[in-house]
Amino acid sequence: MSTITAPKNIWSEPGPQSEWPFIPLSVPQIAGNEWCYVKECLDSGWVSSVGPFVERFEQSLATEVGSRYAVAAVSGTAALHLALSVAGVQTGDEVLVSTLSFIAPANAVRYVGAWPVFIDAEPDYWQMDPEKVKSFLEKQCNFRNGKLHNEATGRRIKAILPVHVLGHPCEMDPLLQLARKYDLAVIEDATESLGAGYKERKTGHLGDVACFSFNGNKILTTGGGGMMVTDSEAWARRARYLSTQAKDDPVEFIHGEVGYNYRLTSLQAAMGCAQVEMLAHAIRAKRRIAQTYTEAFRSLPGVTPMREARWAFSTFWLYTILLDEAVCGVSSRTLLRHLENARIQSRPLWQPLHLSPAHKRGHQDELPVAERLNREALSLPCSVGLATQEQQRVVDVVLDTLRKAKPRRLRARENE
Ligand SMILES: Cc1ncc(COP(=O)(O)O)c(C=O)c1O
Repeated sequence: MSTITAPKNIWSEPGPQSEWPFIPLSVPQIAGNEWCYVKECLDSGWVSSVGPFVERFEQSLATEVGSRYAVAAVSGTAALHLALSVAGVQTGDEVLVSTLSFIAPANAVRYVGAWPVFIDAEPDYWQMDPEKVKSFLEKQCNFRNGKLHNEATGRRIKAILPVHVLGHPCEMDPLLQLARKYDLAVIEDATESLGAGYKERKTGHLGDVACFSFNGNKILTTGGGGMMVTDSEAWARRARYLSTQAKDDPVEFIHGEVGYNYRLTSLQAAMGCAQVEMLAHAIRAKRRIAQTYTEAFRSLPGVTPMREARWAFSTFWLYTILLDEAVCGVSSRTLLRHLENARIQSRPLWQPLHLSPAHKRGHQDELPVAERLNREALSLPCSVGLATQEQQRVVDVVLDTLRKAKPRRLRARENE
């Protein structure tokens, strides 16, 4: 990892600290059969989306998740678009989406002409709050002609799209019960949670259909790529059809409807096959890194390390802490700058989607938990290949920053 050079414009602080090697947030580890399989792919000439590796990658991912079918796609976002399409989400429908998430699921909802309804996070594990979903469905929706409608907008509610953020699962049983009660499809965004578990099951095999991402910072990467998984043969078939330009006749080029060019290439799938072989190792490494950070930060006033629910198996894909500035005297953004000066990359959580200019419209209730998490959270370096000394350096800079800080309430008292 120390061979990775930092982007010049961001990490060009002068002074002795610039001698330190850059520690990135989360970079891939390519240490298995990647070269071998990609070479096999190149040697065979099967480099496009046709060829044995795509199917092999699909099968290995379906096995990993426990689902019957898997359909590879060019990205997690494309997989989400396919999932929403096969679940029958249509123009003018509404879909309940976690507000504390990367923007892709909300964008995918718009791709099919539907509208996201943003749901707040719960404070303990930072996932979609089932109580908020329940309250919205009970208090703000009504059945009309046998279909559930949002009273305020008049639109039909079609699905729930929980996002398992940061490698930790959402609490799914209450969400699944609500989905059954209100006849809603459940589309899991499992892009950040490959390998995570909820009770006895894996994320990606909890709802009707789920999506994974293999972009560069994910626990398993193909450079870029995604996968839709489902137990429904009809949905898998339809996703495959839509992802290959909805081609009915490959000789005459007859296309039954408007489709997409969303198929993953064989080259990427070859890399994916090798990465899946390393998944258990990657999860072990992420969990070990998480344990070390949690032990280092556990008893610091005002610092909340990421937690794992008793019903969850988290991969700790992106290790994150919360900083309550009033208590510890350091905001998440101040710590980010201190880490940056020490050539250590960190990152806040995403702007909650209900505040995003891309999705903000009209009146939207405040979603205070996600807004607080956005203020307080900072993700720390946790690449699978993070060395012990590198992690110790991150811990030292965090502890040093906190030691030198004075809580805001003490500062205020001194100024009185
Ligand atoms: C929660 C979430 N959903 C969807 C995506 C989209 O995946 P991709 O970047 O492969 O399109 C990502 C990651 O990038 C993500 O973090």
